[in-house]
Amino acid sequence: MEADLLVREGSDNSLIKKIISKKEFSDLPQKDVLLAFKKFDSKSFADGEKLKLTRDLLRKSYTAFLSPKLLHFKDKDAEWFLKKHISTRERLPYYSEVYRKILFGLPKELNVYDLGCGTNGFSYDYFREIGFDVNYFGVEAVGQVVNLQKKFFDGKNLRKVSFFHESLFDLGWIMNLIKTGSGSKVVFLFKVLDSLEMIKRDYSKEFLESIVPLVDRVTISFATKSFLKRRKFFADRTWINNFVRDKFKILWDFEIGGERYITFSKKDL
Ligand SMILES: C[S@@+](CC[C@H](N)C(=O)[O-])C[C@H]1O[C@@H](n2cnc3c(N)ncnc32)[C@H](O)[C@@H]1O
Repeated sequence: MEADLLVREGSDNSLIKKIISKKEFSDLPQKDVLLAFKKFDSKSFADGEKLKLTRDLLRKSYTAFLSPKLLHFKDKDAEWFLKKHISTRERLPYYSEVYRKILFGLPKELNVYDLGCGTNGFSYDYFREIGFDVNYFGVEAVGQVVNLQKKFFDGKNLRKVSFFHESLFDLGWIMNLIKTGSGSKVVFLFKVLDSLEMIKRDYSKEFLESIVPLVDRVTISFATKSFLKRRKFFADRTWINNFVRDKFKILWDFEIGGERYITFSKKDL
């Protein structure tokens, strides 16, 4: 299946195999690796440069936030895991406040689709702490991070929590996942849109236009202080602000702990 996809896409198999031979990239969806590789698959780059540039891009979009300790399962508590990923570590002191704000006014029983979840599944107890009974669906491209959370919650026999090793570039799959559930639905896209844009420019717009009509509420977030050197395009983010304001109904726009959250719904809600 792996070989089929590579051949069908007409890409250089041995180079791609080399790219994913590094452990941190070894369990990414094929689609994502190919999209990244295609950005540099031209005559202007020698093979060594293609390999380096593709790995650099994959690191920026998928794995730079992770401690290497997360590539293997450890028998630790949720807070230990939350501290091992830059995004969840920075959010840790503020979880109750953030969840209280973005879920305000919704029924106490609801479905949360956390897209590009990283290790955010480990924050599940904060929903309970603020009185919500959540069916949680985490979707993440880095297979090792998905497996960590699956093992952790299997061990606790918590059936309300599920994780999927899928790419957000597989829009049809994501839409089906969301359509399958019933009841109130909320999507989180925390610190993910920059990663999507680095791989496929303007994909966030297509993605949001397809997802927002399917759910009650979407929250996107961005780091307001950056740990990686980001291009100006990502730093000012006027493009996404204008797009969201134009297409959807903004409910809240606030900043907590170096992260800006924008919550919105479709216009007719
Ligand atoms: C900066 S981290 C944020 C993680 C989490 N949302 C949080 O804020 O705690 C971005 C995450 O999005 C994931 N990601 C990026 N592009 C993705 C894609 N196309 N499909 C699935 N996950 C993706 C990365 O692997 C990474 O875990």
